[in-house]
Amino acid sequence: MTICTAQLIYFSPTRTTQRILTAIAQGIDIGDAIHLDLTPPGVQGRTFEVGNETIALLGAPVHSGRLPKTAVERLYRVRGNGAPAVLVVVYGNRAFEDALLELKDIAEACGFVPIAGAAFIGEHSYSTEAMPIAVGRPDANDMEKAGAFGQQIWQMLAQTPIDALPSLHVPGNYPYKDRKPSTETPPAPITIADLCTLCGDCAAVCPTDAITVGDAVITQAAACIQCCACTRVCPTGARVMEDPRILRTAAWLYENHSARKEPELFLGSAQ
Ligand SMILES: Cc1cc2nc3c(=O)[nH]c(=O)nc-3n(C[C@H](O)[C@H](O)[C@H](O)COP(=O)(O)O)c2cc1C
Ligand code: SF4
Ligand code: SF4
Repeated sequence: MTICTAQLIYFSPTRTTQRILTAIAQGIDIGDAIHLDLTPPGVQGRTFEVGNETIALLGAPVHSGRLPKTAVERLYRVRGNGAPAVLVVVYGNRAFEDALLELKDIAEACGFVPIAGAAFIGEHSYSTEAMPIAVGRPDANDMEKAGAFGQQIWQMLAQTPIDALPSLHVPGNYPYKDRKPSTETPPAPITIADLCTLCGDCAAVCPTDAITVGDAVITQAAACIQCCACTRVCPTGARVMEDPRILRTAAWLYENHSARKEPELFLGSAQ
């Protein structure tokens, strides 16, 4: 099988995952990659086919040591048709726990052949000026490592047919870490009306359609996955995450998980 296209398939509310996949694809160097962005709510319920002459790069962020449920639901609707897949999780400098294993299991269930995996670091969604966590990640160093990883994968594919590659092992445990039980009032960002221009940018980036902008900004907290895409995009600082549960977590992360972590890369190994 000759691979002639790279397809990036990702869920990435604050775009760090998308940036890492793009850098890996640049290392693979087979022309412009096709993007399948599973972040907008419009993809919900749709199915997607990947050609087997494609190398797929699947990516998602780590949420509480797992993949976000929304990402899982959307990834399950992509059919791999035997295409080789590079699996990437991006985490906010704490830990990726079972997320990469979960992504590998999903990829296999969808008909992909996992050939490589990686955990990269992205600025934490809860990071603020007052409590910076992995600010500026991925940085130039991360992007360089991502490009070199792409090159390494491409060389491996040039030397070995896909069905002769050793199987891929990634860290993680069964059963996967429990998801946090949902609460009656999940945390969600609020809008400071005096600062809001009703531009609608926050609603446009929300992956779960939790925001409606009319005469005011209305947020359905039950649909919020706390991704902070809306607070990042707001041009006036009107959209803020002030829920004390999130602020407590951010302070804990800042205190305990500020020491720089480096990307971890996994290629198939005979075991
Ligand atoms: C609800 C939630 C839970 C998170 N849990 C973790 C975690 O368990 N470990 C970690 O290191 N980062 C965690 N993060 C940070 C994200 O993994 C990180 O910000 C990532 O770069 C987001 O990817 P994106 O830019 O593609 O959306 C969490 C973020 C959110 C919103
Ligand atoms: S992005 Fe900010 S300014 Fe624009 S509608 Fe949303 S909260 Fe208001
Ligand atoms: S409302 Fe919630 S889910 Fe939507 S963008 Fe904001 S933080 Fe993310």
